[in-house]
Amino acid sequence: MNRRIFLTQLAGLFLLITSLPTHATTAPIGNGMVVSEQIDASKVGADILKQGGNAIDAAVAVGYALAVTNPCCGNLGGGGFMLIHLANGKTTFLNFREKAPLKATKTMFIEKDGTVDNNKLTNSYLAVATPGTVLGLETARKKYGTMSREKLIAPAIKLAKEGYRVNINDARQFKQYAHVFKERPSVAKTFLKPNGEPYQAGDLLKQPQLAKTLQHIAKDGSDVFYKGDIAKAIVKASQADGGILSMKDFATYNVEEYHPIMCTYRDYVLYSSPPPSSGGVTLCEMLNILEPLKLNELGKRSAKSKRYILEAMRYAFIDRNESLGDPNFVNNPVVRLTSKTYARNISDKILTTINAPQAAQTTELKELSDTTHYSVVDKEGNAVAVTYTLNGFFGSKEIAGNTGFFLNDEMDDFAAAPGVANKFGLVQGDNNAIAPGKRPLSSMTPTIVMQNNKLAFVLGSPGGPRIITAVLLAFLNVVDFDMSLQQAVNAPRYHFQAIPDVVSMEPLAFSYWMANALRFYGYQLDQQSTWSAVEAIQIDPKENVIIGANDDVRRTAGGAVST
Ligand code: DON
Repeated sequence: MNRRIFLTQLAGLFLLITSLPTHATTAPIGNGMVVSEQIDASKVGADILKQGGNAIDAAVAVGYALAVTNPCCGNLGGGGFMLIHLANGKTTFLNFREKAPLKATKTMFIEKDGTVDNNKLTNSYLAVATPGTVLGLETARKKYGTMSREKLIAPAIKLAKEGYRVNINDARQFKQYAHVFKERPSVAKTFLKPNGEPYQAGDLLKQPQLAKTLQHIAKDGSDVFYKGDIAKAIVKASQADGGILSMKDFATYNVEEYHPIMCTYRDYVLYSSPPPSSGGVTLCEMLNILEPLKLNELGKRSAKSKRYILEAMRYAFIDRNESLGDPNFVNNPVVRLTSKTYARNISDKILTTINAPQAAQTTELKELSDTTHYSVVDKEGNAVAVTYTLNGFFGSKEIAGNTGFFLNDEMDDFAAAPGVANKFGLVQGDNNAIAPGKRPLSSMTPTIVMQNNKLAFVLGSPGGPRIITAVLLAFLNVVDFDMSLQQAVNAPRYHFQAIPDVVSMEPLAFSYWMANALRFYGYQLDQQSTWSAVEAIQIDPKENVIIGANDDVRRTAGGAVST
């Protein structure tokens, strides 16, 4: 057996074994719960809840803490989305997605020979879009939180100053990127040891420069980031290194508040991310297509139910890639794409036609977990789902001067050349072309689900486009396939995005017989290493219990902490 197949089978066995028992954290309803990819950050959130903060306070504190203890993905230099459900019934969405610099142009990454310069697009100051996280967290705190900025940033400052213990995931990433860190003095001074070696699991990593940056933000607020010394340091470093960021980009950066996407599935009401994320629309389109196909009656071992899910993914991703973009720049056909009638036509087509497979293609997969999601519920029943990102691991791999934090490479989420695949294999249209001040289309899918007017689930994931299918599968696993939340989160996943015409599967996602049945239907299967990391909360009124499930087979450093 070749080494890759052996290792992926082994990983699959590990996934299977570890998904059998349940490791979820449970507490009686009326307690708070925080679930993230990094246990120290979950504890920070739970502490804020214990001190009387609400779910929004906790989410802000976790956002800052993950910027310290999850350096690949948690961030100050990126952007994201916060979905908030208040106990009074209001559900709202904060868009703090990065914006293309005002000097950006549609063709800025296209070379003379017509090809896209992927290095520029992911590993340089040109890859950096104006960061939104600091204004996003501050906006959430001011509008919906109850605690002072100083109080919510204090735990992150402590973790940066006193250090946190590097975990196995960090160590693996640090090793993988050590050669890149070495080339960049501003990165090497924090993320390489004084002897130039990467930090290992168990080492204490102190980030004094990040601690100073956080202290500035705590004291002076987001203005220091968008108008003051931090903006100046980033613009200076960008200009010195071929970038186009300007002070105007920072001064004009804004956070927007929208109505979330809403849809129903059986007796559940789902709220999720609207454009500039494709997450909510695509998730709702898939669920609307699947609802009449009655997965719960077919069960999880049915090849038909797998085919229906894969076909729902195919149709929804074709729409995603063609039609969606920043709502300030393009008209998104949200009403059509989330309508039950539109979906019903597709469900009927799925029942009556088998899609012919296209020419063989395979995808190269790097691990797709370089974003981070966390879920929070407080004792009052306020809930927050946050997914935020630098895009790739460590974003552009650039740290400006002494700021101590990585800057994103979110420009890669645009269709740099419409019709040409980005690093997630997404082939997207003109709606997502680059324009000055535009936000690139995202797949981040922070989601909150209600049942009988009561909070039922809070969930989300990293994984690029696989975020949307990871959230779909975790939800279906519980509501249609009778899994516990922990089993649902840990279960091996599969993903299909129409182009390439190949179904990606985690090891053991399909049994031998299921894989044969799917091949018979015409699918080409490609077994890959694991991806995504669903961090979820379920509220079960029948059992009077709140359940927190960290994706502990893929993110061993994470954890669910109740109050
Ligand atoms: O916003 C997005 O869809 C991407 N920038 C997310 C990237 C991601 O999840 C990378 N991890 N796999």
